[in-house]
Amino acid sequence: ANRKFFVGGNWKMNGDKKGIDGIVEFLSAGPIDSSAEVVCGAPQCYLDYARQKLPANFGVAAQNCYKVSKGAFTGEISPAMIKDLGCEWVILGHSERRSIFGESDEIVADKCVHALEEGLSVIACIGEKLEERESGQTETVVFRQTKAIADKVKDWDKVVLAYEPVWAIGTGKTASPEQAQEVHVKLREWLKTNVSAAVAEKTRIIYGGSVTAGNCKDLVKGGDIDGFLVGGASLKPEFIQIINTKM
Ligand code: G3H
Repeated sequence: ANRKFFVGGNWKMNGDKKGIDGIVEFLSAGPIDSSAEVVCGAPQCYLDYARQKLPANFGVAAQNCYKVSKGAFTGEISPAMIKDLGCEWVILGHSERRSIFGESDEIVADKCVHALEEGLSVIACIGEKLEERESGQTETVVFRQTKAIADKVKDWDKVVLAYEPVWAIGTGKTASPEQAQEVHVKLREWLKTNVSAAVAEKTRIIYGGSVTAGNCKDLVKGGDIDGFLVGGASLKPEFIQIINTKM
């Protein structure tokens, strides 16, 4: 499979200008695997700052956006605004958006469609909760979440699918390489059956949930994990080692 290794750093609601300067400093110092695609997800008030400060070979992502281009939607930002700042990406459907802010499969799909129409690339997040895994619902949940997106998104060229088991996010409880690989294989099969063989073959499916410099190399061994969405470790110099997993 010829899928470009993808590493997203999701800063979540962390940091300030000084903190971003620190991240820019270690990322600029590198070394960075030139065959990896790297995107940093900044808080919306720092998108402009992050885009201006980060080297051009790093993409910048918003962590959310709304499903229409403008209007009376107090507190929201649109893909058009994200693009206007020179940013290229948006993270959508993160489990924190789904669980804390009540985003449904349907709104996540609508947001994906609109962001893609506006020319942004999308990191679309899915993943099961602990009780869903423990009750054998993992496949049902991630297929349902993926189907909601696939029912509306027709062009997958600018979509990266991020599998993030909710129980592994920010907990230090990383999925084992086998657990992650198993779900990634199933997702790829689902895409093959329900979208197309070409989309299944070319779409990057990345893993998120307590990825560190210490576990990244093991996680990619199975061959269906095409990169990572990194939270906590993306704020630290060890993010470099995660970017360089394949180097
Ligand atoms: O978007 C990133 C994920 O939520 C993972 O966060 O690496 O802090 O567990 P984490």
